[in-house]
Amino acid sequence: MPLNIQTNLENVDWERLAQVYALAFKGIQTAELIELVFIRSYATRIALLDGVIVGGVYAFSDGELDATIHGLCVHPDFQRQGIGRALMESIMQSFGPHIALLLTAEAMHQPLYCKLGFRPLKTAMGKGFPPADMED
Ligand SMILES: CC(C)(COP(=O)(O)OP(=O)(O)OC[C@H]1O[C@@H](n2cnc3c(N)ncnc32)[C@H](O)[C@@H]1OP(=O)(O)O)[C@@H](O)C(=O)NCCC(=O)NCCS
Repeated sequence: MPLNIQTNLENVDWERLAQVYALAFKGIQTAELIELVFIRSYATRIALLDGVIVGGVYAFSDGELDATIHGLCVHPDFQRQGIGRALMESIMQSFGPHIALLLTAEAMHQPLYCKLGFRPLKTAMGKGFPPADMED
């Protein structure tokens, strides 16, 4: 079975998705929290390889003007195979060209987003991020 990008939340194995998030982001995620985040999102994508969840991404939006894309992740055993890019290309299709897309990314991941058309912003500000992510 090839890579499948699921665009709905039918029959999601939330435990497995939380496990993938925990492994990719090297933290602890509960299935309850991940389910809540996905259910509350405007658009979601889940990557399945041979029917098993290997990645995900979600976006918040008003559906008219702005959207923020969050939580792109791929299971460490399946990275560098184009799955992250496939997830991004798919979720970006949820938004017309007039909708401004925003995301945050560590420097090491910025080349991936550049290839998808994203550019650094002069105007972005944030609150509640880890101190290491903040400008002085
Ligand atoms: C970021 C992440 C989702 C990328 O997923 P992936 O499936 O490995 O990415 P892809 O294989 O689709 O790679 C897409 C492009 O990014 C580049 N890329 C991916 N990971 C990279 C890395 N660690 N360093 C440099 N370039 C990288 C690839 O060259 C690729 O370009 P190409 O398709 O033109 O060859 C994955 O590394 C991950 O889950 N990381 C941990 C969670 C995280 O930090 N998420 C990012 C939140 S901003």
